[in-house]
Amino acid sequence: MEDIRGRVTKNGIRIYEDADFAGMRAAGRCAAEILDMVAQYVRPGVTTALLDDFIREEIERRGVVSATIGYKGYQHASCISVNHVVCHGIPGAKILADGDILNVDVTVIVDGWFGDTSRMYVAGSVPRKAERLIEVTVESLMRGIAAAKPGNTFGDIGYAIQSFVEANRMSVVRDFCGHGLGRVFHAPPNVLHYGRPGTGAVLEEGMIFTIEPMVNLGRPETKVLADDWTAVTRDKSLSAQFEHSVGITATGCEIFTLSPAGKFHPTWS
Ligand code: MF3
Ligand code: CO
Ligand code: CO
Repeated sequence: MEDIRGRVTKNGIRIYEDADFAGMRAAGRCAAEILDMVAQYVRPGVTTALLDDFIREEIERRGVVSATIGYKGYQHASCISVNHVVCHGIPGAKILADGDILNVDVTVIVDGWFGDTSRMYVAGSVPRKAERLIEVTVESLMRGIAAAKPGNTFGDIGYAIQSFVEANRMSVVRDFCGHGLGRVFHAPPNVLHYGRPGTGAVLEEGMIFTIEPMVNLGRPETKVLADDWTAVTRDKSLSAQFEHSVGITATGCEIFTLSPAGKFHPTWS
């Protein structure tokens, strides 16, 4: 029923309305609040399964739905990607050690709307190189978001991210991208985190999508392990990622997944 209303661009990108933005706001806030709560459990000695157990129980407690449990056979409420894992790390028996860095990615469904966000955490004291990687990655996301406004193109977003990352002598992963979302998890467009200014589809008010750059200290190439999910850097270098769900407004964009507690960046304390 909801798919009859509204418009889709010639690139297949759905244009959403004010009431839809309200739905995304609630879903994005829920996902961000859960990530805020995760921070207190991250320390050396805990397993990634413990973090995922907390997330699953918190999703249940809130009476909302995990978008990842059952998605293409995935069985967990989060993806947890430690050190050289780029994305889609499977929570499990792995025990966090002092100096480990990890991305926790949560997607919830609230009243049918998908809120998708991820951020970095550190266990114990973070090595300087890892801290720089995290800082460059979160700044690259915010530069991509700054380019997300009507009249700009998706290439402008990719260029803002890639040029900043490469100026810092790090690399942008090409094998995974952001995505449209709304009442579905993954929809057009593919949001590339690299590109040339002025290329790609033009951004319009009402578009809703994620920006989720993965940045490596070494080379950009990845490979997927035999579990068919875990993506790692081919050269074993450290990787970081941050993700926001955003909606294009008349003048810029609204970030649906801002941290209510101001804990998006791991050095918040
Ligand atoms: N949340 C991820 C994204 O940013 C997708 C995870 S799918 C899963 O698009 F099945 F691996 F959980
Ligand atoms: Co996403
Ligand atoms: Co995600």
